[in-house]
Amino acid sequence: MNTLATPLLEVRDLVKHFPIRQGLLGKVVGRVHAVDGISLSVGNSETLGLVGESGCGKSTAGRAISRLVEPTSGSVRLNGQRIDNISEDAMREVRRSLQVIFQDPYSSLDPRMSAGDIVSEPLRNYGLAKGSELRDCVADLFKRVGLRHEQMARNPHEFSGGQRQRIGIARALALRPKLIICDEPVSALDVSVQAQVINLLIAWP
Ligand SMILES: Nc1ncnc2c1ncn2[C@@H]1O[C@H](COP(=O)(O)OP(=O)(O)O)[C@@H](O)[C@H]1O
Ligand SMILES: [Mg+2]
Repeated sequence: MNTLATPLLEVRDLVKHFPIRQGLLGKVVGRVHAVDGISLSVGNSETLGLVGESGCGKSTAGRAISRLVEPTSGSVRLNGQRIDNISEDAMREVRRSLQVIFQDPYSSLDPRMSAGDIVSEPLRNYGLAKGSELRDCVADLFKRVGLRHEQMARNPHEFSGGQRQRIGIARALALRPKLIICDEPVSALDVSVQAQVINLLIAWP
């Protein structure tokens, strides 16, 4: 196999059905066909957009690709490696190179943590940096996304929606992922802030 031609992401016939349950016993009475056999591929440095009406399965596709929900069937390969059927332990390694940015910048940030801790958590979890190196790294990420480093001590509720989305982006970028799945990353933001956030993502790294 020519590895140069291996796409960064390759999705084949991905299916995600949700059971519809009813009654006290939760009997399955039907299935929501949220994603019904999609195939796509994304190369290095490429951007791919999924477009469609509300409820057509865009978010579920992103969640199934990143294993936030278990796919019903189909295959997902990252750099040629199957990630749809590997263990949670193996998936943990994969998450270093596959990060997700959500639409709602508030519910995806832990309200009890400071912004600095939120951004540094992935680096600490993977043991990639500590001490002054970690602080410098987080300060650099804050700068890149247009936040001031004295804001590191603040909690998510002290930030505006746009700033919170920047925290989410800084956190997603911290591990220098190869693939970022964005689920409507700017639709909750003011139009003026939308452009800034998109520019930030385009300019990365
Ligand atoms: N956890 C879930 N349980 C049951 N049905 C779900 C779940 N998540 C999404 N769905 C359903 O799957 C379909 C696709 O939803 P979604 O992927 O959120 O669409 P989109 O992001 O394109 O608006 C919808 O009908 C939605 O109600
Ligand atoms: Mg959606």
